[in-house]
Amino acid sequence: MASASSSLASKLSSFRKNSFLSSSDLNTDQVLSLFELAKQLKSGNRRIDLGNRVLGLIFKKASTRTRVSFQVAMARLGGQTVDLNPQITQLGRGESIKDTARVLGRYCDALAIRTFSQQELEEYAEWSNIPVINALTDLEHPCQALADYLTIQEKFGRLKGINLSYIGDGNNVANSLMICGAMLGVNVKICSPRGFEADSQILEKARSLSEFGSKVSICHDPSKAVKEAQVIYTDVWASMGQEEEQLRRKEIFEKYKVDQKLIGLADDEVIILHCLPAHRGEEITEEALESQRSNVFDQAENRLHVQQALLAVQLGGL
Ligand code: CP
Ligand code: NVA
Repeated sequence: MASASSSLASKLSSFRKNSFLSSSDLNTDQVLSLFELAKQLKSGNRRIDLGNRVLGLIFKKASTRTRVSFQVAMARLGGQTVDLNPQITQLGRGESIKDTARVLGRYCDALAIRTFSQQELEEYAEWSNIPVINALTDLEHPCQALADYLTIQEKFGRLKGINLSYIGDGNNVANSLMICGAMLGVNVKICSPRGFEADSQILEKARSLSEFGSKVSICHDPSKAVKEAQVIYTDVWASMGQEEEQLRRKEIFEKYKVDQKLIGLADDEVIILHCLPAHRGEEITEEALESQRSNVFDQAENRLHVQQALLAVQLGGL
């Protein structure tokens, strides 16, 4: 056990004090080691005490899972979180990120930030001098992808060669699934209506990071996309910030609903994932979400374990 722990620590030590802004900030070995640590923490076989470290939470958008899982993760690590929402700080009155980040870097040990632009997140990382974690931007949701692939690894006992078909909007969740999946040897298909495909630069980045012969592709026909899929994944059709497009998107995305018929075309062992919150009756039917195939609550639980592992590494607890 001692030597297994020290080998994990040595694999992850290079990530200590690093920011996690994109799924591409971790390499394959680091992600797999993080999953080992997350499983140890989940099973209770490992305890890590960070001793009163403080994580600042800056959330410009609503959140249940991400916010609470970060709060609970820090509590379990013997640390704390502090709410720094723009409505209650000078950020809401226009204080610059450049100044805010330098001040917060003097008080906090890390920041988890949920905002719109990836560039804003990068600005915090540039000025704060402490690790910054992407808690969702319009471009990526890397903590979500870690929990998703940990869940898949737990269900199938492997990641290499798994076929994941994402049906719906080519959004932040899809982008991080492509990068992280490619690195782990998962074949990722992102199936969206024309005009709503995943980001082309992220697609290229994912392909350049591909390991173990994994393939990442974009397609448009859900029935073809789910053939041989062991994982069907979906997310809302209109993300936070796109509320005014909701009605228009409902019509455009109608064919991209995950229902029992679509699930019936996939592999016999297929599981259903959704990052949640779900819009039942839109991107997924009630029946599909509540079916035996659905693993969405195990997936949500894993947000806690994987983020606890991530914080333990970034804050020097290994
Ligand atoms: N999946 C996810 O990030 O959920 P929240 O928006 O509730 O944090
Ligand atoms: N794509 C969704 C994910 C929510 C967790 C959004 O950005 O709103």
